[in-house]
Amino acid sequence: MRFSKNARRAFILSAVLLSSAFSTTSWAQKPLVMGFSQVGAESEWRTANSNSIKDAAKKAGITLKFADAQQKQENQVKAIRSFIAQRVDVIAFSPVVESGWETVLREAKAAKIPVILTDRAVTVSDPSLFASFIGSDFVEEGRRAGRWLLERVKKMSNATINIVELQGTVGSAPALDRKSGFEQVIVVNPKLKIIRSQTGDFTRAKGKEVMEAFLKAQGKNIQVLYAHNDDMAIGAIQAIEEAGLKPGQDILVISIDGVKGAFEAMIAGKLNVTVECNPLLGPQLMQLAADVVAGKTVQKRITTLEGVFPAEVAVKEFPNRKY
Ligand code: AHR
Repeated sequence: MRFSKNARRAFILSAVLLSSAFSTTSWAQKPLVMGFSQVGAESEWRTANSNSIKDAAKKAGITLKFADAQQKQENQVKAIRSFIAQRVDVIAFSPVVESGWETVLREAKAAKIPVILTDRAVTVSDPSLFASFIGSDFVEEGRRAGRWLLERVKKMSNATINIVELQGTVGSAPALDRKSGFEQVIVVNPKLKIIRSQTGDFTRAKGKEVMEAFLKAQGKNIQVLYAHNDDMAIGAIQAIEEAGLKPGQDILVISIDGVKGAFEAMIAGKLNVTVECNPLLGPQLMQLAADVVAGKTVQKRITTLEGVFPAEVAVKEFPNRKY
């Protein structure tokens, strides 16, 4: 069969249009790919955070490449470089520590891959190295813990109130900020003294170990434990009990996160208050990622709304807890 020149041209043009229409459709339907570098699996909070991100990605139809850094910055840098090499659409990560990100974030920027920070902040000289940061206000969490203590000590007649502090991971945003927020507030009461402060790396095992050392060094002369997260507080509670003391009574226990384990400890009378830090960031993160990739203008800082839960409300609040 023979075709005229014009018929041949028309055939070729419609084939081109058809193929470009097909490729546009398939591009539009291609799922967004997110590379996510997680801090690790150090706490109940972190498990809830990872599950929230995985579930939300699934629900949003986003392909998630999830890497656990086991609390090591070098693993996060490697993961980010591998996401860049794989040409993912967007990179999100919760930085284990605050500093040392400049180089790898510049590499992501050069590759035109947007970066979203979740949970923890970074210190960089160029704020354009990340598109947005979604997470809690850790300084405010520390202040909330401090305010609770200021109120509570009004009932105490001690001349000095000795506080021991279990810090989070050295150099991490929550450890630095929770420490400074707490100190900013308690400074108004000269009776309150932080006599020992050491890292428990946000884990139960380390929290217990460091509390044992505090108890050995200070004997019974500790009135308050301020732990930067619930897991360390739960570990420390065990150490206090093993030392023959009553956590929640002989030593007031203050912590941060609001995980179910903390509510159980409050119901058992072993923990006095937990300041909430919400790990359920997944749904907001997926929306943010879609907006960033679509080129929409997004807020540079999105702060999570949180509360304070003293032991007195634990029984009532426990059934509402989602993590
Ligand atoms: O960055 C958030 C902190 O990290 C949580 O408070 C703690 O439990 C976690 O390990």
